[in-house]
Amino acid sequence: MTIYYIDGEFLESEKAGISINDLIVLRGYGVFDFMRTYNRTPFMLREHISRLMNSAEQILLKVNQSEDEIFNAVMETIDKNSNLEEMNVRIICTGGISSDGVTPQGNGKLIVMITGAKVPPKDWYTEGVKVISEMTERNIPVAKSTDYLSAIVAQRKASKEGAVEAIYTDRNRNIHEGTTTNIFFFKENRLITPDRGILPGITRSVILDLSKEIFDIELRDISYDEIGNFDEAFISASNKEIVPVVSFDDIKIGTGKPGLNTVKLMKKFKDFTKDYGRN
Ligand SMILES: Cc1ncc(COP(=O)(O)O)c(C=O)c1O
Repeated sequence: MTIYYIDGEFLESEKAGISINDLIVLRGYGVFDFMRTYNRTPFMLREHISRLMNSAEQILLKVNQSEDEIFNAVMETIDKNSNLEEMNVRIICTGGISSDGVTPQGNGKLIVMITGAKVPPKDWYTEGVKVISEMTERNIPVAKSTDYLSAIVAQRKASKEGAVEAIYTDRNRNIHEGTTTNIFFFKENRLITPDRGILPGITRSVILDLSKEIFDIELRDISYDEIGNFDEAFISASNKEIVPVVSFDDIKIGTGKPGLNTVKLMKKFKDFTKDYGRN
């Protein structure tokens, strides 16, 4: 059992709940953000809150708390979960209760959910993973809305094919991002990643920052037809960090093993998070 925060109250996770009349339940109308802790410090919390606010703005959802209030709610909820070492933190802003079941009335709730951190299997990092493509164009991709319908469907297809992620492609065969990840490729020392039609991942922004000094960076559209020409690929997300990709549909990437540049970045990312929050 962990402690959740719901609009000013701390509750045991099993007892925490919201109205089934909330638009988040009825219509999937809400936004959220997700991060993990390192050294019990929420990673890039300010950046996650600012993305949350932007997500809300994008879907015209009124948030009744300031960024500082949300920040304090997260920190207090972490404090209440003193039995946990590392944690996953999910912040949700719900659409609120609506008298006609469709028009938001500005009474949404702020929720902070804390669970123990879960990390993916070790062999994802040592052997690399397979991803598949999925032709889907996300609605308002810059917003992290709670509607993950296309993600759930695509992930089920991926796991049926022994893949860990599905990567969205559009009608022009451009690659955008995974269902819950951003995607990057290497061509020699050039790090290439899409910049449009994606959720601006916080992990992605840290990776781009760490890469500035060591790689050339290209932010551009990437065609599905280019995949076979790349030397390396990886996906990134808060709960996965950097995961090497060694096959994409039936296309082998590079040597079929995690690439050297990817491994170098994985190490840089680990070094960056190792002492996070300690100084
Ligand atoms: C659609 C989508 N793209 C990218 C990401 C990666 O974002 P972050 O690095 O902030 O976790 C996520 C995370 O859940 C996502 O849902």
